[in-house]
Amino acid sequence: ARHVFYHDAPILQLEAFIMESPHAQRKNEHLSLAAKLYAKNHETHPFDDVQLVHNPLPEINLADVSTTVQLGPLTLEQPFYIEAMTGGSKQSAQINQKLAQVAAKHHLAMATGSASIMIKDPATADSFKVVRREDPDGLVFANLSASATRKQAQAAIDALNADALELHVNAVQELTMADGDRNFHWLINISQLTRALDVPVIVKEVGFGMSKEAIQALTDMGVTLINVSGRGGTNFANIENRRNRHEDLHELLDWGQTTPESLLEARQGRSNSTTIISSGGVCSPLDVVKSGVLGAQAVGVAGYFLNILQHQGIDALDDEISRWEVELPRLLALLGCSSFTDLSRKPFVLHGATYEYALQRHLI
Ligand code: FNR
Repeated sequence: ARHVFYHDAPILQLEAFIMESPHAQRKNEHLSLAAKLYAKNHETHPFDDVQLVHNPLPEINLADVSTTVQLGPLTLEQPFYIEAMTGGSKQSAQINQKLAQVAAKHHLAMATGSASIMIKDPATADSFKVVRREDPDGLVFANLSASATRKQAQAAIDALNADALELHVNAVQELTMADGDRNFHWLINISQLTRALDVPVIVKEVGFGMSKEAIQALTDMGVTLINVSGRGGTNFANIENRRNRHEDLHELLDWGQTTPESLLEARQGRSNSTTIISSGGVCSPLDVVKSGVLGAQAVGVAGYFLNILQHQGIDALDDEISRWEVELPRLLALLGCSSFTDLSRKPFVLHGATYEYALQRHLI
């Protein structure tokens, strides 16, 4: 019989939510559309263009492999973690509760979705705080827009007792939303927040990737933790288009750099003190390893884990993460790496569109 570790304890104050507020509704639509469009958004898998080079003489003992990684001052037991998704509605409280239970059991770091809804409507705070309640000792990252004020950022950090703050840069998503932001002067604010806050700040995209120029600009502003979050997984142009039939921006459906392309860009835009995080379309331990070979020091997974939770339930997600925990050290051993960071010294071969991209952008 399965060892049951989770529970469905009532989430306090849930009934106080203004369930049908347009903001809460939007959060529910993101969850249901991420699930509905999952297959369409995963028709292609850019990581397939990245080939690793087999070494038949790994000269290593699997017992000597460690999966621990360093994210600035934070130590992660596994290089992969649950990336920012939700909060702000009853449904998202339930999802956050389950994700946090899995994160706690497997000692994975976890980011919540954007806390801006909580700042607009404090009654929704419990749908975020449930994460800290379920995972009191784990690494929890808060998430806000890169236009957040210092006060808002501190409030989000305090609500979760967060170990880090993710600031998302999501110009494509905002422009595809009828009521989205239209002012994208973010750099100075990011720089100020990075200096003012006493937790590490991670700047992340939401699935459209980054360029070496952007990474260089962030680095120049004092940002040391950058999540390239590239194309190839959850596609917010597609999701927002479905929500918002009258203002379609279909041109943006294929916009942006894939995750492998973004990681290649990062190898040039970064400085020695930059830590690069991979996310966007990561669906397997092999994708985690390929991210490491391309220079990532940690890997966020959003849509893939959410899809398992939504379609197969928490037991299936628990099992899947157990599988990743077994396979990841095996892949490291096969590549002769005793740590995840060692991967960045391993050779790789690029194929297809990723190869052409890398050539024309002078990345290889
Ligand atoms: C997201 N993502 C996201 N990112 C962010 O910074 N703040 C947010 O509030 C959200 N909300 C959100 C909701 C849902 C339902 C999904 C699936 C995703 C983006 C996420 O963190 C990640 O950057 C992208 O989804 C790409 O990774 P995957 O999904 O391809 O693994």
